[in-house]
Amino acid sequence: MDFDVKDPSLASQGRYKIEWAESQMPVLKAIRERFAKELPLKGLKVSACLHVTSETAGLMRTLQAGGADIVLAASNPLSTQDEVAASLVVNDEMPVYAIKGEDNETYYRHLNAALDHHPQMTMDDGCDLVSVLHKERPNQVPEILCGTEETTTGVIRLRAMAQDGALRFPVLAVNDSMTKHQFDNRYGTGQSTLDGIIRATNILLAGRSLVVIGYGWCGRGVASRGKGMGAHVIVTEVDPLKALEAVMDGFQVMPLAQAAKVGDIFVTVTGNKNVIDNEHMAVMKSGAVVCNSGHFNAEINIPALKAMSVGEPRNVRPFVEQYTTKDGRQINMLGDGRLINLAAAEGHPAAVMDMSFANQALGAEFMLKNFKTLSPNVYTIPEAIDREIARLKLATMGVSIDLLTNAQTKYLASWDEGT
Ligand code: ADE
Repeated sequence: MDFDVKDPSLASQGRYKIEWAESQMPVLKAIRERFAKELPLKGLKVSACLHVTSETAGLMRTLQAGGADIVLAASNPLSTQDEVAASLVVNDEMPVYAIKGEDNETYYRHLNAALDHHPQMTMDDGCDLVSVLHKERPNQVPEILCGTEETTTGVIRLRAMAQDGALRFPVLAVNDSMTKHQFDNRYGTGQSTLDGIIRATNILLAGRSLVVIGYGWCGRGVASRGKGMGAHVIVTEVDPLKALEAVMDGFQVMPLAQAAKVGDIFVTVTGNKNVIDNEHMAVMKSGAVVCNSGHFNAEINIPALKAMSVGEPRNVRPFVEQYTTKDGRQINMLGDGRLINLAAAEGHPAAVMDMSFANQALGAEFMLKNFKTLSPNVYTIPEAIDREIARLKLATMGVSIDLLTNAQTKYLASWDEGT
């Protein structure tokens, strides 16, 4: 079996880590038990490009239990947990191509290795796998039945492909499930981003100005968790609706050019490029901490920071590069501008990935059953499956809820009853 991981001897450490995560993923566990009986993915060749974490291992093992033949490559050069990659290779006989800290060339070599598997289904996080397939390996596209996509950025790219008429098979936007973005993006990114910042810097958030750039689901999460830790949270936005929501949620809202002068810690969660740019870094206070929790490392203009700095940055702590600007200020860049929650911490906790990956597993099953009726476009999981995941999650948390009475159901469907 071919694979490329850092060190297979880390496998037993990885196994414990996977078991720990799986113990907090009861919804995925229930799906796995059913998959093992019904084998809904029997013989299906899947190439997955996901963050190689213990939670992802839980998903891969679920798909494997359902009969899929899987190859896994990293969806980010810095997010791999090397011990998890080793365990999947050694204990689950799964070809994995992922090494934490791999360079860009290795990253793309790994994606191509995953495509050498000749998948019938793609499972992507950020759309790099699907993009390489369409741009560099078009002859292989007719072999693909369907795909799934995990994240906001990937869904935006897929919609752009569909709009251009470039997308050639149907893809399920897992991110668009309510049980994904309303939980993973908000509570997952909220907690794991602060976890990454704290592990990298050991900085006290209380009393500091935390500038959250972007108030989508991820920004909402980071801002609310930052507030909970005692930070003074400033939100910057380009969308008036989101900006208004941030104001009414109690945050100070201002343009980034203004926030740049007062912020202590800056986090980008926009999905766009050069959001923190030259003009902002030119006015930041000395000691500012700058990081990104959006999918790509394009949100902070690092070349501009390099250009305004003298000499090479100092690697003052793991994942902290300290730049000294020509006017003598120090700016601390975390994790090379890559997803700080996965670079310096462990990504979202398992309990929230339980729902995201339940959507992936049930989404894969749904797409395999339905791809013949779907044209090349971007789809959302049926609401009934989404709600079932929420119901199962509540049940595993020991939470029960009320049911509508028959009279209430009838009332909601009627229009003739008034005051
Ligand atoms: N994305 C964010 N957190 C993650 C995790 N723990 N595993 C896989 N993908 C993630």
